[in-house]
Amino acid sequence: MEQKKQSKRVIRIGLLGFGTVGQGVWKHIRADASELERRLGVKLELVRAAVSDLKKKRAVSIPASKLTDDPYTVVDDPTIDIVCELIGGTKLARTLTLRALKAGKIVVSANKALICQHGAELFSAALRHGTHYFFEASVAGGIPIIKTLREGLVANRFPLIFGILNGTSNYILTRMEREGLSFPDILGDARALGYVEADESLDLDGWDAAHKAVILAYLAHGRWVKPKEMLVEGIRGITQHDIAYARELGYKIKLLAVITRDFNANCLSVRLHPALISRREMMANVDEVYNGVSLTGDVVGTTLLVGRGAGQDATSSAVISDIADAVYALQGWPAPRICEEDEHIYADLGEGVELAGPESIRSAYYLRLHVKDQPGVLARVTDILSREGVSIATMTQHQEPKTGTATLLFTTHQSNEKVMAATLKNLKRLSSVVEKPFLLRIFQP
Ligand SMILES: NC(=O)c1ccc[n+]([C@@H]2O[C@H](COP(=O)([O-])OP(=O)(O)OC[C@H]3O[C@@H](n4cnc5c(N)ncnc54)[C@H](OP(=O)(O)O)[C@@H]3O)[C@@H](O)[C@H]2O)c1
Repeated sequence: MEQKKQSKRVIRIGLLGFGTVGQGVWKHIRADASELERRLGVKLELVRAAVSDLKKKRAVSIPASKLTDDPYTVVDDPTIDIVCELIGGTKLARTLTLRALKAGKIVVSANKALICQHGAELFSAALRHGTHYFFEASVAGGIPIIKTLREGLVANRFPLIFGILNGTSNYILTRMEREGLSFPDILGDARALGYVEADESLDLDGWDAAHKAVILAYLAHGRWVKPKEMLVEGIRGITQHDIAYARELGYKIKLLAVITRDFNANCLSVRLHPALISRREMMANVDEVYNGVSLTGDVVGTTLLVGRGAGQDATSSAVISDIADAVYALQGWPAPRICEEDEHIYADLGEGVELAGPESIRSAYYLRLHVKDQPGVLARVTDILSREGVSIATMTQHQEPKTGTATLLFTTHQSNEKVMAATLKNLKRLSSVVEKPFLLRIFQP
């Protein structure tokens, strides 16, 4: 009997951006096309990629006819079904994304800065125009954290989510810990390896990880938090004194995003800062460029996900998983949790939730003071601590005879931000304190 061969639907994909991620997505779809097409039951066609400089040499070569320096020829092409926004930034990316959604295209994005700033607008545009906005690659690179939160752990409410969300900072801190080198020494290597974003502040001052924390907080708690409402601190001030003393006490220093929800008080706290964390915690052993996210759910308990947080291949893996979801949606197959439903789910989740500001943080602390090495200085310092009600847990000092100074390192028992701020203010006023006091929180999950 003659079998009628059904031709597969062709799904057409356009890329905005052909840089690190764009080239990775193109390379992997091209290399694995037949396997992907077999799994998805469609044919995938890479139509065009928009760049800013057509003359730039690229590691992944594609026919010149497939490159354009006019991104509107991607979003306005009526034959393109899926647009991958891999340009970055928030201005042009927003304009192009809204235009593609308005045209009914599914948009896939890795752009955490854009989602953090305009997520609500983009989700509602997708809903209004009957299409979808997928963004798995925007948080923790190759770790499928968005799907895990939305689908795998949908039965849970999350009193605590914390993790390492910036691979560059983790790489620098890991090498400082392992090799005893200074922050500037390793920053040079990280730059040479292309690990640091063009705007270094995103990695080094914590903003990149803060954007990701905002997205996770929204998905888990239905409340958009602005980065300026959060405590955001980066890793620039950390020295070998801090790393070595932390090690002596059984800690490592990691740049942590911490999202807590008190369900009784209906209060949410989102923060991003370096912290001492016990070496016994699995998260403390997430090193190098890896990311880790620990989710404590009321049903599942604690789940830890670890994987490559950035880079071409890990990020492409996440983008392609969104392309697969887009194909499911285009085929009308039962879709994973999608943005049409988001509005209702997230509005309920976030109903009445109050934001707890940085002043609500309670923690044990680590304090470094650089002081003149003179009689009576230690007594004056401990007097201030005691007057402010800060109880010392440990203390050590390193004399620096060449400069006639000493570094005093303390850890404290549980205290809070208000008390520590007053303490630092008083310490700074001491004439024997020669540098701005340096404070880190000690994180206990
Ligand atoms: N790199 C990672 O590991 C990673 C991980 C997770 C998420 N992300 C996110 O993914 C996105 C892309 O990152 P990336 O590292 O791939 O950036 P990238 O290497 O700088 O690539 C950006 C691309 O956008 C193009 N572009 C910029 N302005 C344009 C314009 N006006 N018109 C047309 N094209 C334009 C650039 O063109 P030219 O090539 O001609 O300059 C380049 O191809 C960002 O949102 C980033 O935050 C990146």
